[in-house]
Amino acid sequence: MFSRSASRSVVSSLRSFQAPVRHYNSAFGSSTPTSAFAGKKGSDGNYTVTLIPGDGIGPEIAQSVKEIFAAAKAPIKWEEVDVTPILKDGKTVIPDDAVTSIKKNTVALKGPLATPIGKGHVSLNLTLRRTFSLFANVRPCVSIQGYKTAYDNVNTVLIRENTEGEYSGIEHEIVDGVVQSIKLITREASERVARYAFHYASENGRNKVTAVHKANIMKMSDGMFLTACRAVAKEYPNISYDEDLLDRVCLRIATDPTPFADRVMVMPNLYGDILSDLSAGLIGGLGLTPSGNIGRDASIFEAVHGSAPDIEGKGLANPTALLLSSLMMLRHMGLFELADKIEKAALSTIAEGKAITRDLGGKAGTREYTDAILAKLK
Ligand code: IPM
Ligand code: MN
Repeated sequence: MFSRSASRSVVSSLRSFQAPVRHYNSAFGSSTPTSAFAGKKGSDGNYTVTLIPGDGIGPEIAQSVKEIFAAAKAPIKWEEVDVTPILKDGKTVIPDDAVTSIKKNTVALKGPLATPIGKGHVSLNLTLRRTFSLFANVRPCVSIQGYKTAYDNVNTVLIRENTEGEYSGIEHEIVDGVVQSIKLITREASERVARYAFHYASENGRNKVTAVHKANIMKMSDGMFLTACRAVAKEYPNISYDEDLLDRVCLRIATDPTPFADRVMVMPNLYGDILSDLSAGLIGGLGLTPSGNIGRDASIFEAVHGSAPDIEGKGLANPTALLLSSLMMLRHMGLFELADKIEKAALSTIAEGKAITRDLGGKAGTREYTDAILAKLK
């Protein structure tokens, strides 16, 4: 169970919900433009941020975040856009307005978007990641006081390559009954995500980077991913580096997540997709885990959970994942105190347990939970 000091460390460990920007330039080399990276302050002192409420419960949880930001007097103006896909020259694309808005604002918050399985248009989530070259997907999982799971001390950060690998979507049927799917790994994307992982580790007080791989099987593709990680490791003499097999990491992290609290894990796309859900399971599921898709020109912070059509419009949804994602966003924008304030209000509401949603074992709806947080911000 959490002691008082453990609960303090939870709040500070939630700093891992931070996508660092402060030394971005030094980590990426001085030729990297930084001005567009972390939001732009308007002449009225406010930042305009693109908001994609999304499908299913998306609009309900987005509403909750908007109310919480207003109560916390966040200097944020939301620019809501619709990303319903359109077909252009046979390709699924997002509407121009949405692209323009994200390019202009450089920071976006996104709710869940429904993804058809096995058929239909390419996932819009992926379209967004590709459209803006969001090369690193940062996924922290931190135990939440007040929601008891098998472990009380989970504090992991996983960084997933976000643009290629098994997600490149290059698939074809060679002959009837034989399908080939290409896992694309490039040195450039591997180095880029590795560099971000080391940078993140050094900015967030984590002293180790572990590359997670299956180079025993995929000797060339994962082999190159590792070669890239090793090269970048040399640039960071103060961060130690090691490598571990994906299956072993799954076993180890499910057996005891404690040793993973000191490090950042970095890995190719699909491994990160799966291992991040496994890690989320350790702290109570996707309803409690935020994420940030980091790019050079824009970054999109999103709840990783689905659109939950079964509870859509019923006022039952838990907005925590989107809210924690919005806190990663604020820290990414350098608004640390504001993020700390909102985080304290939300986490203490969960810890008290009086107004928590059903997925966390409570009886509250979105409204009561949001109200409890609002009351702490007034
Ligand atoms: C995630 C999701 C997406 C993914 C889906 C919705 C395309 O599971 O963000 O982890 O597989 O990347
Ligand atoms: Mn996933």
